[in-house]
Amino acid sequence: MPHDPRARIIRRQSWGDFHLFRFESPALAASAKPGQFVMVRTAEGTDPLLRRPISLHDGGDGWMEIFFRVAGRGTALLAERKEGQTLDLIGPLGGGYQLDGEWSGRKAWLVGGGRGIAPLYFLGRALQVRGARVRVFYGGKTRAEIPLAGKFRDAGFDVACSTDDGSLGYRGFVTALLEKELAAGPPAGLFVCGPDPMMERTARLAQARNIPAQISLEAIMGCGFGACWGCVKRIKRQDGGKWRKICEDGPVFAADEIIWDEA
Ligand SMILES: Cc1cc2nc3c(=O)[nH]c(=O)nc-3n(C[C@H](O)[C@H](O)[C@H](O)COP(=O)(O)OP(=O)(O)OC[C@H]3O[C@@H](n4cnc5c(N)ncnc54)[C@H](O)[C@@H]3O)c2cc1C
Ligand code: FES
Repeated sequence: MPHDPRARIIRRQSWGDFHLFRFESPALAASAKPGQFVMVRTAEGTDPLLRRPISLHDGGDGWMEIFFRVAGRGTALLAERKEGQTLDLIGPLGGGYQLDGEWSGRKAWLVGGGRGIAPLYFLGRALQVRGARVRVFYGGKTRAEIPLAGKFRDAGFDVACSTDDGSLGYRGFVTALLEKELAAGPPAGLFVCGPDPMMERTARLAQARNIPAQISLEAIMGCGFGACWGCVKRIKRQDGGKWRKICEDGPVFAADEIIWDEA
């Protein structure tokens, strides 16, 4: 299992509870794909004992980034790390988004809510390289929950924001904005990460219009690489609905594979 115990943080940015770390990790950067994640050790001691899964947000020559929101003790401890300190990471893990096929000139729509926006920047850049016309739907409760809108715009993505309170962009859920825009014509593919209700609604919108959609599921993870069976959910494939490990078989699944009642 690839393990980098000393990935040095070379830049960090914070917006309230949201944090972005850039760190040096040449081996990780050489092999990571969009949609994959790392298991991060958050404590120096044993509390919390388990590593926490965090998506790869971006990567370049010898460096990678993570973007996370403080959810509990582990991520709060992680947020205390300073530039020059190190991260202890296992990864890249999981399969990531499937980008096979022709994307040149085709529309790829990325839908992210809150911290779920994290993997979509790395993904958007990979789609851009393939010539796709990338549009990003970025939703949050308030404008404070969509701190990366400017970063996505600066990368050349067409960004449509939504907030529940109307403080930035469309007022309402990102799925309502998406549904409105779908009326003008469907994209070639939808790529989604966010809270379960948002992903389920997006999957149903895609399925009703026969748009291929890939969804990044979350689960509480013990190991992150298939050893503990702590992350299983029922996923249907040709062989019917079976318990699958979100860490190893996912975290990205085709929308029509997901059994939402149990996801
Ligand atoms: C594949 C994967 C990729 C992820 N990528 C990111 C990312 O890029 N950025 C980011 O901010 N977060 C991401 N998460 C979620 C992140 O792992 C959790 O927020 C984190 O583990 C919480 O740990 P904690 O110790 O801070 O909180 P805890 O005290 O452990 O939990 C706080 C709350 O978060 C819930 N929670 C804990 N772990 C998870 C989990 N794995 N999934 C869903 N809910 C959880 C708990 O039920 C509890 O309600 C990802 C999760 C997965 C499975
Ligand atoms: S987290 Fe251990 S098997 Fe998936």
